[in-house]
Amino acid sequence: MTTLQKAKMVIDKDYRISEIDKRVYGSFVEHLGRAVYGGIYEPGHPTADEQGFRKDVIELVKELQVPIVRYPGGNFVSAYNWEDGVGPKEERPRRLELAWRTVETNELGTNEFMDWAKKVNSEAMMAVNLGTRGIDAARNLLEYCNHPSGSYWSDLRIKHGYEKPHNIKTWCLGNEMDGPWQVGHKTPVEYGRLALETAKAMKLLDPSIELVSCGSSSIEMPLFPEWEAITLDHTYDHVDYVSLHQYYGNRNNDTASYLAKSLDMDAFIRTVIATCDYIKAKKRSKKTVNLSFDEWNVWYHSNDQDQKLEPWTVAPPQLEDVYNFEDALLVGCMLTTMLNHADRVKMACMAQLVNVIAPIMTENGGRAWKQTIFYPYYYTSVYGRGIALHSVINSPKYDSKEYTDVPYLESAVVYNEEKEEVVIFAVNRNLEEALELNCDIRSFEDFKLVEHVVLEHDDPKAINTASTENVLPHANGISKVQDGSLESVLPKMSWNMIRLAKSSLK
Ligand code: AHR
Repeated sequence: MTTLQKAKMVIDKDYRISEIDKRVYGSFVEHLGRAVYGGIYEPGHPTADEQGFRKDVIELVKELQVPIVRYPGGNFVSAYNWEDGVGPKEERPRRLELAWRTVETNELGTNEFMDWAKKVNSEAMMAVNLGTRGIDAARNLLEYCNHPSGSYWSDLRIKHGYEKPHNIKTWCLGNEMDGPWQVGHKTPVEYGRLALETAKAMKLLDPSIELVSCGSSSIEMPLFPEWEAITLDHTYDHVDYVSLHQYYGNRNNDTASYLAKSLDMDAFIRTVIATCDYIKAKKRSKKTVNLSFDEWNVWYHSNDQDQKLEPWTVAPPQLEDVYNFEDALLVGCMLTTMLNHADRVKMACMAQLVNVIAPIMTENGGRAWKQTIFYPYYYTSVYGRGIALHSVINSPKYDSKEYTDVPYLESAVVYNEEKEEVVIFAVNRNLEEALELNCDIRSFEDFKLVEHVVLEHDDPKAINTASTENVLPHANGISKVQDGSLESVLPKMSWNMIRLAKSSLK
């Protein structure tokens, strides 16, 4: 008889990290590849609505319950003239788009995006161009979007058919300005000064907005975390968040190391928190700057294909990563990592939403389907609302080529007081063996098991296509609740959601 590896966990409703800001389940739509054209918008498509939005995609996005969508970029925003995308469509210019070397038709712009956001029950996180432009373009866009009427830009919006202001609350001060690939790349001092002055002007115009200062483009950037320290030294008093971006890939085909990459994400978050708090201390400030992890995902499958694409075409198939089962596991781990920092990570955007490194894929004129990574994102977004709880975990560990002391069990726990429900999200990183989980549920003693959903597959490289859903969750997980404890079996290489509630009928 083989004995399973065992992990122990203790959870208690009084061990609170923080209320989860629902905006951690945000996503991102950039004018890039087929994210907009062929993704959310395709006038000739059989499901297109009166504005040309694909209703099949709208339904899938609504399923994910995405509370905020970042727009219009990404690298795209750093050379974007927002004025090109408003007003009569027939007068909008076709532009050579420099970030991705395509042709931008500007058929869809700010107003149409805001209409779409409403249709998917989402709000916008709008980015301003601090690459080729600056204070003036940013404050004009804000006036166009948020000022009610009686000024040049607000009246222009009304003339364009949008009587009511969009009231966009969250704004990014540029994108990845530390990256040499960025059009209008800046040194930290250049960016710090420009972001500060732009922030001041924007908040003078609309003090109710929240601003995100650009952090490093990834943990590997040479200036990290000095970039954060220098730029926040300028912007601290005028911004509310600093951004983090991170993508991972399994380039060495080393799954054990790949699944441990969320530990690196955890270290990234901890360092950014420490840097924010260092500047807070330096300034003797009472204000806390929080984190906006506004680009995160797996991105590497499409890298070689993208090299072969012709430049200057409209909506080419760029960054179309086809995700496999192991990617879904890492995405699950990244989500739990952010939930375990719910006290400081207040916003996050899975990058991106449709076609471009995305949970949703489409064919032009055809079907839309769910990639493997859709599932952990879906369940965490739908059921991960409430209070993030600290859990005391004792898990067996492993060493991989790149990491040491990696716990097999990766987990986050969410308590929804209103629904009287507690949800455990758990990944078993063990590639060979199941993990027996014993969870002391103390104050949840009278809670019953509602469901144990499992995402598992024998083949880490299994993918979903338009015609075959190979990687699908099932609700036959092995769990039982008895005498104040939960006993579960987490299959080898699996993502799990175990839901307990006062009433098991939910
Ligand atoms: O999401 C794809 C790209 O990744 C974004 O445009 C950029 O901000 C990042 O480098």
